[in-house]
Amino acid sequence: MALSYHFFLFTCLLLSISISPSIAQTSFRPKALVLPVSKDSSTLQYLTPLNQRTPFVPVKLTFHLGGQFLWVDCEQGYVSSSYKPVRCRSAQCSLARSKSCGECTPSPRPGCNNDTCSLLPDNPVINTGTIGELAQDVVSIQSTDGKNPGRVVSVPKFLFTCGGTFLLGGLANGVKGIAGLGRTRISLPFQFSATFSFDRKFAICLSSSTRANGVVIFGDGPYVLLPGMDVSKSLIYTPLILNPVSTAAASFEGEPSADYFIGVKSIKINGNAVKLNTSLLSINKEGFGGTKISTVNPYSVMETSIYNAVIQAFIKEVENIPSVAAIAPFGACFNSTFIGSTRVGPAVPQIDLVLQSSSVFWRIFGANSMVQVKSDVLCLGFVDGGFNPRTLIVIGGHQLEDNLLQFDLATSKLGFSSSLLFRRTTCGNFNFTSN
Ligand SMILES: *[C@@H]1O[C@H](CO)[C@@H](O)[C@H](O)[C@H]1NC(C)=O
Ligand SMILES: *[C@@H]1O[C@H](CO)[C@@H](O)[C@H](O)[C@H]1NC(C)=O
Ligand SMILES: *[C@@H]1O[C@H](CO)[C@@H](O)[C@H](O)[C@H]1NC(C)=O
Ligand SMILES: *[C@@H]1O[C@H](CO)[C@@H](O)[C@H](O)[C@H]1NC(C)=O
Repeated sequence: MALSYHFFLFTCLLLSISISPSIAQTSFRPKALVLPVSKDSSTLQYLTPLNQRTPFVPVKLTFHLGGQFLWVDCEQGYVSSSYKPVRCRSAQCSLARSKSCGECTPSPRPGCNNDTCSLLPDNPVINTGTIGELAQDVVSIQSTDGKNPGRVVSVPKFLFTCGGTFLLGGLANGVKGIAGLGRTRISLPFQFSATFSFDRKFAICLSSSTRANGVVIFGDGPYVLLPGMDVSKSLIYTPLILNPVSTAAASFEGEPSADYFIGVKSIKINGNAVKLNTSLLSINKEGFGGTKISTVNPYSVMETSIYNAVIQAFIKEVENIPSVAAIAPFGACFNSTFIGSTRVGPAVPQIDLVLQSSSVFWRIFGANSMVQVKSDVLCLGFVDGGFNPRTLIVIGGHQLEDNLLQFDLATSKLGFSSSLLFRRTTCGNFNFTSN
């Protein structure tokens, strides 16, 4: 621990030295940065654009909360005069925890150079990983005061990994890579905080609408949504848990998971505890079990015994609503003409994920639990993860929408807002007009 902390400081120093010319030029040090996050209607993936390279191009990326780092396809269309491969045994290699040093014999090009260290970029949608060159290139991004986007700043030597074109399989149309926000020292939030020396915190707010952008803010609050509500002021906190075993499709031995896990202790529906084998809920030595938060799963996924118990308990609580034939991938569907509506979505029993104590829970209301599958059919938006999956419960995108989540990497805790619909706002309400 002491060693890695020392190392982190050392790297901060390196990064800040390398960016000092641009800061001196503008004498502007942002306190936070902002990117829009859209929802792709065909894949249900969340997407974010990042300006990279010289000259700058907007690179469309799949937004992956638990992703290890930024990776992009360097095989096709990567043109940049500022691309630099990272040499073996350099400080950047150690920062990235690379355990591999590569050679590439065809003529040098982005993604193929000699004496460069490599990482293992992965695509969680097709569960595939590969080996790719670690590199640096310039990235530019808008700063924010938490209310509007402000002036653009750039990070001249932003670390990322080169993936191949095949690794884009299953990603939304036009996407060129994955933006990883996970628990590594080179994920987007870590690099931005280290570069500009702001708090190691970031917040995500995913929009439920494909017409209004959600938002990710790197740095501390305020996080203001129209009409002028600072959501950072009213969060509930729970510890983030480290899974000691990687959950990526490919990993070096001994690498911990980059995913964010929280400690769900029980599940209540309408206040009644669902009977579960609670020993399954914690993470074991092999890294199996636990509850993680994922932006690449459109719906929450639960291990079969938990899934069945939750579905049955839910059906029992809604006896008066007629069930209809289930529509895949869901297992419990209802005739929506019998379901009323509320400010927080369809009027169905609340589902509580109970955390470190019985008074701390993540409450899921109808807007986040139910999915409109047909005009008169609403399904419970959870899917069966099979027996013995790697992670017991994956809280997916539909359950995250219109909830603001703040990740505090320094103190390892998650702040969550619960449904913003209660407060008459949504994640689509960040004011993206620059001031
Ligand atoms: C890379 O190294 C290999 C083996 O040492 C050598 O044959 C090749 O010419 C080098 N390629 C470049 C681009 O330097
Ligand atoms: C609960 O799960 C654990 C781990 O899979 C298993 O060993 C145990 O027998 C289960 N307990 C019950 C009551 O099913
Ligand atoms: C839902 O209920 C209405 C009213 O009883 C009925 O007309 C409709 O066919 C039902 N829909 C389904 C999918 O069962
Ligand atoms: C959004 O921000 C701009 C710039 O500060 C401001 O002029 C505009 O009134 C804001 N929009 C709303 C709806 O408040």
